[in-house]
Amino acid sequence: MRDLMRKNFYITTPIYYPSGKPHMGHAYSSIVADIFARFKRIEGYNVLFLTGTDEHGQKIQKEAEKNNKDPKIFCDEISETFRSLTKTLNLTNSDFIRTSETRHFKSVNEIWNRLINSGDIYLDKYSGWYSVSDEAYYDVDEIEEKNGKKLSKISGSTVEWVEEESYFFKLSAFQNKLLDHYKKNPDFILPTSRRNEVISFVQKGLKDLSISRTSFSWGIPVPGNKKHVIYVWLDALTNYLSAVNFPNTNDDKYKSFWPADVHIIGKDILRFHAIYWPAFLFAANLPLPKRVFGHGWILSDDKKMSKSLGNILDPIEVIKDYGIDQLRYYLIKEVSLGNDGSISMGNLEKCINNDLANNYGNLCQRVFSFIKKNCNNKIPQKDKLKDTDVKIITNIKDNIPKLIEYINKQNLNEYIRTVVNFSFEANKYFNDSEPWHYKTKDPSRMHAILYTIVEQIKNISILLNPIIPIATKKVLNSINISDKDILIDNIKKNNALDCSSELKSLEILFKKIENDN
Ligand code: MSP
Repeated sequence: MRDLMRKNFYITTPIYYPSGKPHMGHAYSSIVADIFARFKRIEGYNVLFLTGTDEHGQKIQKEAEKNNKDPKIFCDEISETFRSLTKTLNLTNSDFIRTSETRHFKSVNEIWNRLINSGDIYLDKYSGWYSVSDEAYYDVDEIEEKNGKKLSKISGSTVEWVEEESYFFKLSAFQNKLLDHYKKNPDFILPTSRRNEVISFVQKGLKDLSISRTSFSWGIPVPGNKKHVIYVWLDALTNYLSAVNFPNTNDDKYKSFWPADVHIIGKDILRFHAIYWPAFLFAANLPLPKRVFGHGWILSDDKKMSKSLGNILDPIEVIKDYGIDQLRYYLIKEVSLGNDGSISMGNLEKCINNDLANNYGNLCQRVFSFIKKNCNNKIPQKDKLKDTDVKIITNIKDNIPKLIEYINKQNLNEYIRTVVNFSFEANKYFNDSEPWHYKTKDPSRMHAILYTIVEQIKNISILLNPIIPIATKKVLNSINISDKDILIDNIKKNNALDCSSELKSLEILFKKIENDN
């Protein structure tokens, strides 16, 4: 049973097309969302963290046909690889939704009916460009011709001419309402650069949107007209509501978690989330999510990773070779959230060595083995701290509100930069304080230094926990802090260290990567 006194937080990843194996770009969206989910949990929130697979539409139908499989069986298999990736990535998702589930059908039907009842749907004929790979319609001015092929200027994917009967959503009628919403809610779309892109796109004028297809059958049928299947994006976006038991708006889950706090998405699917989705919700008379955050792309050879470009980095292989905490840390440290970032195995290795092995890992190991040798393996009592000791401890505590604010604005880069600095400072403090000189000369000074440094290790570990959960748990458990006490509140507390029990042994946290060259 959920603790009703606590505040609720609802975060989502995009739901992934099970058209091929998951790649690093997918892993990135999920890891980013998981870090926010974990942080909000240790901040004391009830967190609903949703991920899943987007299984309908022409793209999936074609892919299933290529593989000679029934689309449902095809999706069952590939959806499973995404589900198993949540384990490999150490995600803490509370639910995994598939758009082929009954709960989702019910919720999409209700959305459709609401849109019909509000008078925002009409039947007409669509003729224009369509990209199956993006499942998106493009205007003539968004198309270019290269080597005799028509391509979307935006995504580079091939488009085909479509002419068919279609239901339309009166998107054009929502232009001013959307602009007004962006203006009144400046943080609805973040980062700001993406917000500006969306605003100028909407200002240019919105056309009505085709929301059904007739040339294939793999999708949710339009209620009352089985010739049509619902456009996969209207279907897919509704997953965020299906997971909170919509259409039952009296349900405790719906009431606790809708509207969602943040949809984490990649910049390529911003138009769908920041224009179509809020317009559908306006029409359905439902509250809008509080935020849509569009992150950049993970580039490989300076290009977006994609199946068609054949430059895919397999997260599972990388994790096998280097470890999941290592990959999580690297992606967040190296790629500035919101911008594109290139990754390489060489840089991953450097990052593991410099930040994880030499800095945080080495600090914990050195301090704990020093305590084992010199203090009967127990953290010394807090006693006779000098100003320099108190200053370094309070510095972290004083920064907590700022760190929470970074997370609340999805400013992961400033967050990690600040926390890593604490770790470098802690290392410097330990070296400069030279506790080894006081072993016999002044044991009480040595104790004060050790108490201070363990306090720092505890606080840094709590702050790094959402990013590198496995290693930080080991460190915190070894100073007898149990999993349920990994909380931001335990940084603020003054006496959170257990000085009466022995430290548990700590294995090497991060192996240094030795290169022959
Ligand atoms: N099914 C839709 C999303 C529906 S959400 C209601 C979709 N699926 S996807 O599998 O193609 O992509 C899912 C997410 O992965 C998107 O946020 C996309 O931006 C992200 N990435 C795919 N390749 C990427 C990179 N190379 N880099 C970073 N993220 C990218 O779109």
